[in-house]
Amino acid sequence: MEQRYLTIALGKGRLASQAMKLFEQTGITCEEMKDKQTRKLIFVNEEQKLRFFLSKGPDVPTYVEYGAADIGIVGRDTILEESRNIYEVLDLGFGACRMCICGPKSAKELLQHQERIRVATKYPHIAKDYFYNKKHQTVEIIKLNGSIELAPIVGLSEVICDIVETGSTLRENGLLVLEEVCPLSARMVVNQVSMKMEHERITKLITALKEAVFAKQ
Ligand code: PRP
Repeated sequence: MEQRYLTIALGKGRLASQAMKLFEQTGITCEEMKDKQTRKLIFVNEEQKLRFFLSKGPDVPTYVEYGAADIGIVGRDTILEESRNIYEVLDLGFGACRMCICGPKSAKELLQHQERIRVATKYPHIAKDYFYNKKHQTVEIIKLNGSIELAPIVGLSEVICDIVETGSTLRENGLLVLEEVCPLSARMVVNQVSMKMEHERITKLITALKEAVFAKQ
């Protein structure tokens, strides 16, 4: 029987290029994808029967849950926020950063005294889970779409729940990490049916990627 294509969804941007570098170390390439000018959305490796496509990060778990992609490469922040029915199978090591509660120094006390504060974030689900289930603090969550650090500066919220990588955005805006929510990095996710139907190919791929991740450490 002819092998079917395995489809891999990649979150657009830096994550996708780092993922392709890792795939290359395992002998999986996709020449078509290297053309920076291309407006193509889907790329095929005929020999290895693989298809790659680029989508917005938050859409990757959706494609994987519905089986439009067998495999996805996406940040743990997105996996937690989307909370889809998918398997998270491997930590790829790159894209390491932290989800944190940040704000001005003066906000530290508000976090210690269970005050009802406003939390601006691109990740309302993660923020809600942290404040309601872990800290048991009632807060008002304000959803924003970017430049979250602005919120406490202009008085929209007392704190933010956001990604901190180097910490320079916080530093340059007079904000601090007040509490850490969880560590983050790029992960491989798999559709639950594909994991059964294509078990051998997918486990082989996981093993090869695991070795490549290990070799980099
Ligand atoms: C992310 C994040 C922080 C910044 C952290 O934003 O939301 O703002 O990077 O990085 P740093 O600790 O290295 O400064 P991104 O650049 O993705 O854009 P956004 O503000 O539109 O979300």
